[in-house]
Amino acid sequence: MTNFKPVRKAVFPVAGLGTRFLPATKAMPKEMLPISDRPLIQHVFEEAREAGIEEFIFITGRHKQMLEEHFDYQPELEQTLESRGKDAMLEKVRDSEMPAGKLFLTRQPKPLGLGHAVWCAKKLIGDDPFAILLPDVLMKGETGCLKQMIDVYNETGGNIIALEDVPESEVHKYGIADVGEESNGAIEIKGLVEKPSIEEAPSTLSAVGRYILQPEVFEPLEAFERGAGNEIQLTDAMAKLIGQQPFNGMVFDGKSYDCGSRLGFIEANLVYGLADPEIGDDVAKILKKYN
Ligand code: G1P
Repeated sequence: MTNFKPVRKAVFPVAGLGTRFLPATKAMPKEMLPISDRPLIQHVFEEAREAGIEEFIFITGRHKQMLEEHFDYQPELEQTLESRGKDAMLEKVRDSEMPAGKLFLTRQPKPLGLGHAVWCAKKLIGDDPFAILLPDVLMKGETGCLKQMIDVYNETGGNIIALEDVPESEVHKYGIADVGEESNGAIEIKGLVEKPSIEEAPSTLSAVGRYILQPEVFEPLEAFERGAGNEIQLTDAMAKLIGQQPFNGMVFDGKSYDCGSRLGFIEANLVYGLADPEIGDDVAKILKKYN
Protein backbone atom coordinates (compact mmCIF):
# COMPACT_ATOMS: atom_id res chain seq x y z
CA MET A 1 0.00 0.00 0.00
CA THR A 2 1.32 3.38 -1.01
CA ASN A 3 0.55 6.45 1.06
CA PHE A 4 -1.81 8.57 -1.00
CA LYS A 5 -3.34 11.71 0.49
CA PRO A 6 -6.33 10.46 2.50
CA VAL A 7 -9.89 11.25 1.40
CA ARG A 8 -11.47 13.21 4.25
CA LYS A 9 -13.92 15.50 2.42
CA ALA A 10 -17.15 14.56 0.71
CA VAL A 11 -19.49 16.58 -1.46
CA PHE A 12 -23.25 15.93 -1.41
CA PRO A 13 -25.07 17.67 -4.27
CA VAL A 14 -28.50 18.40 -2.77
CA ALA A 15 -29.70 21.41 -4.75
CA GLY A 16 -31.95 19.40 -7.13
CA LEU A 17 -35.66 20.19 -7.32
CA GLY A 18 -36.99 16.65 -7.09
CA THR A 19 -39.60 17.16 -9.79
CA ARG A 20 -40.12 13.42 -10.19
CA PHE A 21 -41.63 13.30 -6.70
CA LEU A 22 -44.08 16.18 -6.95
CA PRO A 23 -46.25 16.99 -5.13
CA ALA A 24 -44.41 15.22 -2.24
CA THR A 25 -41.40 17.47 -2.78
CA LYS A 26 -43.28 20.78 -3.13
CA ALA A 27 -42.03 21.97 0.26
CA MET A 28 -39.85 19.06 1.41
CA PRO A 29 -36.42 18.37 -0.11
CA LYS A 30 -36.34 15.05 -1.99
CA GLU A 31 -33.28 14.10 0.07
CA MET A 32 -35.55 14.02 3.14
CA LEU A 33 -37.74 11.24 1.71
CA PRO A 34 -37.39 8.32 4.13
CA ILE A 35 -36.15 4.87 3.27
CA SER A 36 -37.25 2.75 6.24
CA ASP A 37 -36.47 4.86 9.33
CA ARG A 38 -34.12 7.51 7.98
CA PRO A 39 -34.04 10.02 5.15
CA LEU A 40 -32.00 9.41 2.01
CA ILE A 41 -29.44 12.03 3.01
CA GLN A 42 -28.76 10.24 6.28
CA HIS A 43 -28.15 6.93 4.51
CA VAL A 44 -25.45 8.53 2.34
CA PHE A 45 -24.04 10.49 5.29
CA GLU A 46 -23.61 7.17 7.15
CA GLU A 47 -21.95 5.60 4.11
CA ALA A 48 -19.46 8.51 4.02
CA ARG A 49 -18.85 8.42 7.77
CA GLU A 50 -18.13 4.67 7.60
CA ALA A 51 -15.54 5.42 4.90
CA GLY A 52 -13.64 7.83 7.16
CA ILE A 53 -15.04 11.11 5.80
CA GLU A 54 -14.67 13.95 8.30
CA GLU A 55 -15.91 16.99 6.39
CA PHE A 56 -19.38 16.92 4.87
CA ILE A 57 -20.02 19.52 2.18
CA PHE A 58 -23.62 20.08 1.09
CA ILE A 59 -24.21 21.87 -2.21
CA THR A 60 -27.59 23.18 -1.32
CA GLY A 61 -30.16 25.64 -2.66
CA ARG A 62 -33.41 27.39 -1.89
CA HIS A 63 -35.92 25.54 0.32
CA LYS A 64 -33.34 23.04 1.56
CA GLN A 65 -32.89 24.23 5.16
CA MET A 66 -34.56 21.09 6.47
CA LEU A 67 -31.39 19.17 5.55
CA GLU A 68 -29.16 21.12 7.93
CA GLU A 69 -31.85 20.99 10.64
CA HIS A 70 -31.93 17.22 10.34
CA PHE A 71 -28.28 16.88 11.30
CA ASP A 72 -28.41 19.44 14.09
CA TYR A 73 -28.62 18.92 17.86
CA GLN A 74 -32.31 18.91 18.90
CA PRO A 75 -32.27 19.53 22.70
CA GLU A 76 -36.05 19.49 23.36
CA LEU A 77 -36.48 16.26 21.45
CA GLU A 78 -33.57 14.62 23.28
CA GLN A 79 -34.81 15.76 26.69
CA THR A 80 -38.29 14.42 25.98
CA LEU A 81 -36.97 11.05 24.85
CA GLU A 82 -34.67 10.90 27.87
CA SER A 83 -37.41 11.73 30.37
CA ARG A 84 -39.62 9.02 28.83
CA GLY A 85 -36.83 6.46 29.02
CA LYS A 86 -36.83 5.94 25.24
CA ASP A 87 -33.13 5.14 25.18
CA ALA A 88 -32.97 3.25 21.89
CA MET A 89 -34.76 6.07 20.06
CA LEU A 90 -32.51 8.63 21.76
CA GLU A 91 -29.50 6.70 20.53
CA LYS A 92 -30.84 6.82 16.96
CA VAL A 93 -31.47 10.56 17.17
CA ARG A 94 -27.97 11.23 18.52
CA ASP A 95 -26.47 9.08 15.77
CA SER A 96 -27.99 11.42 13.18
CA GLU A 97 -26.13 14.46 14.54
CA MET A 98 -23.29 15.97 12.59
CA PRO A 99 -20.18 16.46 14.77
CA ALA A 100 -19.48 20.13 15.52
CA GLY A 101 -17.51 21.94 12.83
CA LYS A 102 -17.91 19.17 10.26
CA LEU A 103 -20.84 20.35 8.14
CA PHE A 104 -20.15 22.88 5.40
CA LEU A 105 -22.84 24.45 3.27
CA THR A 106 -22.58 26.26 0.00
CA ARG A 107 -25.24 27.05 -2.56
CA GLN A 108 -25.70 26.34 -6.21
CA PRO A 109 -27.90 29.28 -7.20
CA LYS A 110 -29.03 27.89 -10.58
CA PRO A 111 -29.51 24.28 -11.75
CA LEU A 112 -26.70 24.28 -14.31
CA GLY A 113 -25.76 20.61 -13.97
CA LEU A 114 -23.89 18.20 -11.70
CA GLY A 115 -20.50 19.51 -12.84
CA HIS A 116 -21.48 23.03 -11.88
CA ALA A 117 -22.82 21.84 -8.50
CA VAL A 118 -19.49 20.16 -7.75
CA TRP A 119 -17.54 23.23 -8.92
CA CYS A 120 -19.39 25.24 -6.23
CA ALA A 121 -17.30 23.31 -3.64
CA LYS A 122 -13.95 24.34 -5.19
CA LYS A 123 -12.92 26.65 -2.36
CA LEU A 124 -13.92 24.12 0.32
CA ILE A 125 -12.00 21.30 -1.35
CA GLY A 126 -8.79 23.28 -1.91
CA ASP A 127 -5.93 20.92 -2.80
CA ASP A 128 -7.43 17.76 -1.33
CA PRO A 129 -8.81 14.61 -2.92
CA PHE A 130 -12.53 14.32 -2.26
CA ALA A 131 -15.53 12.06 -2.61
CA ILE A 132 -18.88 12.82 -4.21
CA LEU A 133 -22.02 10.94 -3.15
CA LEU A 134 -25.30 11.43 -5.00
CA PRO A 135 -28.02 11.07 -2.37
CA ASP A 136 -30.57 9.78 -4.92
CA VAL A 137 -28.68 6.53 -5.12
CA LEU A 138 -28.48 4.15 -2.17
CA MET A 139 -25.75 1.54 -2.21
CA LYS A 140 -26.57 -1.52 -0.14
CA GLY A 141 -23.77 -3.93 0.67
CA GLU A 142 -21.98 -5.62 3.58
CA THR A 143 -19.38 -2.88 3.34
CA GLY A 144 -20.42 0.57 2.18
CA CYS A 145 -19.60 1.50 -1.41
CA LEU A 146 -17.39 4.46 -0.53
CA LYS A 147 -15.40 2.35 1.92
CA GLN A 148 -14.84 -0.24 -0.81
CA MET A 149 -13.66 2.57 -3.10
CA ILE A 150 -11.28 3.95 -0.46
CA ASP A 151 -9.72 0.48 -0.20
CA VAL A 152 -9.08 0.55 -3.95
CA TYR A 153 -7.84 4.17 -3.75
CA ASN A 154 -5.31 3.18 -1.10
CA GLU A 155 -3.75 0.89 -3.71
CA THR A 156 -4.06 3.04 -6.84
CA GLY A 157 -4.42 6.70 -5.79
CA GLY A 158 -5.86 9.02 -8.44
CA ASN A 159 -9.53 8.95 -9.36
CA ILE A 160 -12.02 6.14 -8.78
CA ILE A 161 -15.63 5.91 -9.83
CA ALA A 162 -18.12 3.24 -8.83
CA LEU A 163 -19.39 1.31 -11.84
CA GLU A 164 -22.44 -0.83 -12.36
CA ASP A 165 -23.57 -2.83 -15.36
CA VAL A 166 -26.90 -1.61 -16.76
CA PRO A 167 -29.13 -3.01 -19.52
CA GLU A 168 -28.43 -1.57 -23.00
CA SER A 169 -31.81 0.14 -22.94
CA GLU A 170 -30.67 2.25 -19.97
CA VAL A 171 -27.25 3.52 -21.07
CA HIS A 172 -28.80 6.82 -22.22
CA LYS A 173 -29.55 7.70 -18.59
CA TYR A 174 -25.99 7.50 -17.25
CA GLY A 175 -22.35 8.37 -17.59
CA ILE A 176 -20.84 5.34 -19.39
CA ALA A 177 -17.23 4.16 -19.16
CA ASP A 178 -14.88 2.82 -21.80
CA VAL A 179 -12.82 0.32 -19.85
CA GLY A 180 -9.53 -1.56 -20.17
CA GLU A 181 -7.80 -4.10 -17.97
CA GLU A 182 -8.78 -4.96 -14.40
CA SER A 183 -6.27 -5.58 -11.64
CA ASN A 184 -7.05 -6.07 -7.94
CA GLY A 185 -10.56 -4.66 -8.25
CA ALA A 186 -9.48 -1.55 -10.17
CA ILE A 187 -10.64 -1.37 -13.79
CA GLU A 188 -8.73 1.03 -16.00
CA ILE A 189 -11.00 3.76 -17.40
CA LYS A 190 -10.06 4.86 -20.91
CA GLY A 191 -12.96 7.18 -21.61
CA LEU A 192 -16.26 8.48 -20.25
CA VAL A 193 -19.33 9.68 -22.09
CA GLU A 194 -22.44 11.24 -20.58
CA LYS A 195 -25.83 9.82 -21.54
CA PRO A 196 -24.80 8.19 -24.85
CA SER A 197 -27.17 6.50 -27.27
CA ILE A 198 -26.84 2.70 -27.48
CA GLU A 199 -24.80 3.14 -30.68
CA GLU A 200 -22.36 5.58 -29.08
CA ALA A 201 -22.01 3.77 -25.73
CA PRO A 202 -18.53 2.25 -25.31
CA SER A 203 -19.88 -0.34 -22.82
CA THR A 204 -22.80 -0.91 -20.47
CA LEU A 205 -20.82 0.06 -17.37
CA SER A 206 -22.42 3.13 -15.81
CA ALA A 207 -21.20 5.63 -13.22
CA VAL A 208 -23.50 4.90 -10.33
CA GLY A 209 -23.17 8.06 -8.23
CA ARG A 210 -20.04 7.59 -6.12
CA TYR A 211 -16.74 9.22 -7.03
CA ILE A 212 -13.29 9.82 -5.56
CA LEU A 213 -11.65 12.64 -7.45
CA GLN A 214 -8.49 14.71 -7.40
CA PRO A 215 -8.77 18.50 -7.09
CA GLU A 216 -7.41 18.95 -10.66
CA VAL A 217 -10.96 18.20 -11.86
CA PHE A 218 -11.83 21.81 -11.00
CA GLU A 219 -9.70 23.06 -13.93
CA PRO A 220 -11.87 21.54 -16.69
CA LEU A 221 -15.01 22.23 -14.62
CA GLU A 222 -14.10 25.89 -14.56
CA ALA A 223 -14.38 26.08 -18.33
CA PHE A 224 -18.16 25.77 -17.72
CA GLU A 225 -18.61 23.96 -21.02
CA ARG A 226 -22.11 22.70 -21.68
CA GLY A 227 -22.55 19.03 -22.51
CA ALA A 228 -25.44 16.54 -22.63
CA GLY A 229 -28.80 18.19 -21.90
CA ASN A 230 -27.06 21.58 -22.22
CA GLU A 231 -25.74 21.09 -18.67
CA ILE A 232 -22.24 21.45 -17.23
CA GLN A 233 -21.43 17.78 -16.83
CA LEU A 234 -19.10 16.22 -14.26
CA THR A 235 -18.52 13.34 -16.69
CA ASP A 236 -17.04 15.69 -19.32
CA ALA A 237 -14.63 17.25 -16.80
CA MET A 238 -13.55 13.81 -15.53
CA ALA A 239 -13.00 12.62 -19.09
CA LYS A 240 -10.38 15.37 -19.52
CA LEU A 241 -8.31 13.98 -16.62
CA ILE A 242 -8.02 10.54 -18.20
CA GLY A 243 -4.45 10.02 -19.38
CA GLN A 244 -3.15 12.72 -17.04
CA GLN A 245 -3.87 10.91 -13.77
CA PRO A 246 -4.69 7.33 -12.73
CA PHE A 247 -8.38 6.81 -13.48
CA ASN A 248 -10.08 3.60 -12.41
CA GLY A 249 -13.49 2.11 -11.97
CA MET A 250 -14.64 -0.21 -9.23
CA VAL A 251 -17.59 -2.55 -9.51
CA PHE A 252 -19.42 -2.27 -6.19
CA ASP A 253 -19.92 -5.49 -4.28
CA GLY A 254 -23.58 -4.89 -3.42
CA LYS A 255 -26.64 -3.43 -5.10
CA SER A 256 -27.68 0.11 -5.97
CA TYR A 257 -31.18 1.57 -5.64
CA ASP A 258 -32.10 4.58 -7.73
CA CYS A 259 -34.30 6.41 -5.26
CA GLY A 260 -34.62 9.33 -7.68
CA SER A 261 -37.36 7.32 -9.43
CA ARG A 262 -40.61 6.36 -7.75
CA LEU A 263 -40.21 2.70 -8.57
CA GLY A 264 -36.62 2.56 -7.26
CA PHE A 265 -37.74 4.41 -4.15
CA ILE A 266 -40.52 1.91 -3.43
CA GLU A 267 -38.20 -1.04 -4.09
CA ALA A 268 -35.58 0.42 -1.73
CA ASN A 269 -38.19 0.87 0.98
CA LEU A 270 -39.18 -2.78 0.65
CA VAL A 271 -35.58 -4.01 0.65
CA TYR A 272 -34.46 -1.84 3.58
CA GLY A 273 -37.71 -2.67 5.39
CA LEU A 274 -37.11 -6.41 4.92
CA ALA A 275 -33.55 -5.98 6.28
CA ASP A 276 -34.74 -4.05 9.35
CA PRO A 277 -34.42 -6.23 12.49
CA GLU A 278 -37.47 -4.57 14.08
CA ILE A 279 -39.98 -4.84 11.24
CA GLY A 280 -38.37 -7.15 8.65
CA ASP A 281 -40.52 -10.23 9.41
CA ASP A 282 -43.70 -8.19 9.28
CA VAL A 283 -42.71 -6.57 6.00
CA ALA A 284 -42.21 -10.08 4.58
CA LYS A 285 -45.71 -11.04 5.76
CA ILE A 286 -47.24 -7.98 4.15
CA LEU A 287 -45.47 -8.76 0.89
CA LYS A 288 -46.87 -12.32 0.91
CA LYS A 289 -50.36 -10.88 1.37
CA TYR A 290 -50.10 -9.05 -1.93
CA ASN A 291 -48.39 -11.78 -3.94
C1 G1P B 1 -25.77 11.84 -12.96
C2 G1P B 1 -24.46 11.79 -13.74
C3 G1P B 1 -24.33 10.48 -14.48
C4 G1P B 1 -24.47 9.32 -13.52
C5 G1P B 1 -25.80 9.43 -12.75
C6 G1P B 1 -25.87 8.36 -11.67
O1 G1P B 1 -26.83 11.90 -13.90
O2 G1P B 1 -24.40 12.90 -14.63
O3 G1P B 1 -23.09 10.41 -15.13
O4 G1P B 1 -24.40 8.10 -14.23
O5 G1P B 1 -25.91 10.71 -12.12
O6 G1P B 1 -27.10 8.39 -11.03
P1 G1P B 1 -28.32 12.36 -13.48
O7 G1P B 1 -28.96 11.19 -12.82
O8 G1P B 1 -28.17 13.53 -12.54
O9 G1P B 1 -28.99 12.73 -14.75
